[in-house]
Amino acid sequence: MIYLDNAATTWPKPEGVYQAVANFMREIGANPGRGGHRASVRGGKIIADTRKKIARLFNLKNSNRAIFTFNATHSINLALKGLLEPGDHVITTALEHNSTLRPLFKLLQKGVRVTVIPCSPQGFIDPALIKRKLLPSTRLICLNHASNVLGTLTPVQEVGRIARENDVIFMVDAAQTAGIYPIDVEEMNIDLLAFPGHKSLLGPQGTGGLCVGERVRLDSIFEGGTGSVSESFAQPDRLPDKLESGTPNTPGIAGLGAGLDFILQEGMEKIRAHEQELTSYLLQGLEEFKEIKIYGPKNTEKQAPLVAFNVKDKDSTDISYMLDKFYDIATRSGLHCAPLVHKALGTREQGAVRASIGYFNTRGDIDGLLHALASIVKEF
Ligand SMILES: Cc1ncc(COP(=O)(O)O)c(C=O)c1O
Repeated sequence: MIYLDNAATTWPKPEGVYQAVANFMREIGANPGRGGHRASVRGGKIIADTRKKIARLFNLKNSNRAIFTFNATHSINLALKGLLEPGDHVITTALEHNSTLRPLFKLLQKGVRVTVIPCSPQGFIDPALIKRKLLPSTRLICLNHASNVLGTLTPVQEVGRIARENDVIFMVDAAQTAGIYPIDVEEMNIDLLAFPGHKSLLGPQGTGGLCVGERVRLDSIFEGGTGSVSESFAQPDRLPDKLESGTPNTPGIAGLGAGLDFILQEGMEKIRAHEQELTSYLLQGLEEFKEIKIYGPKNTEKQAPLVAFNVKDKDSTDISYMLDKFYDIATRSGLHCAPLVHKALGTREQGAVRASIGYFNTRGDIDGLLHALASIVKEF
């Protein structure tokens, strides 16, 4: 199989990730932080070590403020629902994924006000427009770091500055960038950083996280056992316990730790350079087809390693299906859970085919896709 669906979840993973998951399952297995026995302590140490690696990667000063979740959607829900109250105003953008839009829609029904900043058809966001929409009640600006449909990178640094100058909380959804692009929560003034563990951080599915800055106090959205302050019925106030109830995904977190080790050893720049090189090779190849329409910036300096396109007016699902069935190539079709982007593109009916690149892809994989598309295009 040629796997080009890395924006959904990366595959394959580095060998060390498989080993770390299997080692935990086979050799340790215990519930971490819930008992004083050695296996439980070893599990707890794996979690604490992975937390430190996350803090190091994103320059978060206190690793206890790195919360483990089960995916980016979980992180975003923790942040939005833990922060916002009726009467609060939020600014977000048309680039967002449903993992942001749907919780915001729910909060809207409970009295939170939401302003959605439009994006250009290439996915660009104007920070000046965000600034103009600030209100005295604006509590939060939330923005993704790169569109999962167009790849377009957003002006996080600039928006972070606007948020800080206006004493507004700034949340970034780094689902498409964490592990590929440097993210420094201090320098970028990011108060809440939501990320999946299973995409470019190369961990297993069922992992994700939320970095919670010192300026933010989140309420818990679910409560339960934390292995701490067990005599109290009230949820402990300290982090990470307040936001991490119940048994964690320790095998997944062990694997995530190994994914982070791989990134730190390999170097994010090398990873990014390889993925950008393949993205640019793919863009050049696609440009050769007059039957193919490419969306997004078409410039690897301005986009994450993914490319959305359509073949004539054909339904994107049919093209993706053909790529899979006849050529064993995994891509994604449809709206990619980002309906407002497709509204801006005028592709709400057709959707788009998305090829997303990972570190383990090769030029041969891109050639495979281009050859398959050459045959498909001839059929229509
Ligand atoms: C921009 C963006 N945000 C959020 C998510 C949700 O991530 P998860 O599947 O880890 O919940 C995705 C998933 O593709 C995404 O691309």
